[in-house]
Amino acid sequence: MTTAAIDLKSFQEIGWMREAGRVVAEVLNLLAGMTKAGISTEDLDRTARSEILKRKAKPAFLNYRGYPCTLCVSVNEEVVHGIPRSGKVLAKGDIVSLDLGAVVKGFYADAAVTVGVDSISEDSARLIEVTRKALFLGTAQVKPENRVGDISNAVQTWVESQGMSVVREFVGHGIGRNLHEEPPVHNYGRSGTGPRLQTGMVIAIEPMVSLGGPEVRVLEDGWTAVTQDGSRSAHFEHTIAVTKEGHEVLTSIA
Ligand code: MF3
Ligand code: CO
Repeated sequence: MTTAAIDLKSFQEIGWMREAGRVVAEVLNLLAGMTKAGISTEDLDRTARSEILKRKAKPAFLNYRGYPCTLCVSVNEEVVHGIPRSGKVLAKGDIVSLDLGAVVKGFYADAAVTVGVDSISEDSARLIEVTRKALFLGTAQVKPENRVGDISNAVQTWVESQGMSVVREFVGHGIGRNLHEEPPVHNYGRSGTGPRLQTGMVIAIEPMVSLGGPEVRVLEDGWTAVTQDGSRSAHFEHTIAVTKEGHEVLTSIA
């Protein structure tokens, strides 16, 4: 982030982001369907890359600050930024966060989902549903006149009411010509604070929720963030445009 100013997107720019968002949504959907026991996280990454290229888009994460892959795959106690590798093979009961970005005409879209492998524990299923709903409740706050803190507060209040914790080291963000732009979108905070939302802003909201404590640490690979207490964590994300009427989710399949 080079400037504190929030870049507003034109109608046409939001059109490119909608295209990038559709690519991300389609490919994530396909990857979620492949997330089965016996597949490696590298297999998922390879498919992510080829399916993005097939749609005439570009991977957003590859080489971003040295990130080596197209996809982030974070399993169980991994929170975000898990690096795909051939030795990481999924097993029944795992929960798997898939985070993907694509670029069309120089404009970015970014989204994430968490899915279970075959049957998962009741706790894991609840974690996934609480995190999915956190994104939904945060998104519901997106309309002109509301503030970024209204999103943050909606996410935090819901997650903590369910006895789970919000990861604080990573945040959502403005998005557009860059993967990360102003403003940061924290997953905790006070209503009525932060920048006012306005038509033409596009943000990525991305709650990361853990069953245990909120603390994380980054592994020696320099990327993979895991919970300090080893508890499981889930992650959902959408790229969302602020519109006159409220918002448009750019990374969902219509
Ligand atoms: N959704 C994540 C984020 O906004 C993905 C970034 S992965 C990276 O931070 F490799 F590009 F950093
Ligand atoms: Co993001």
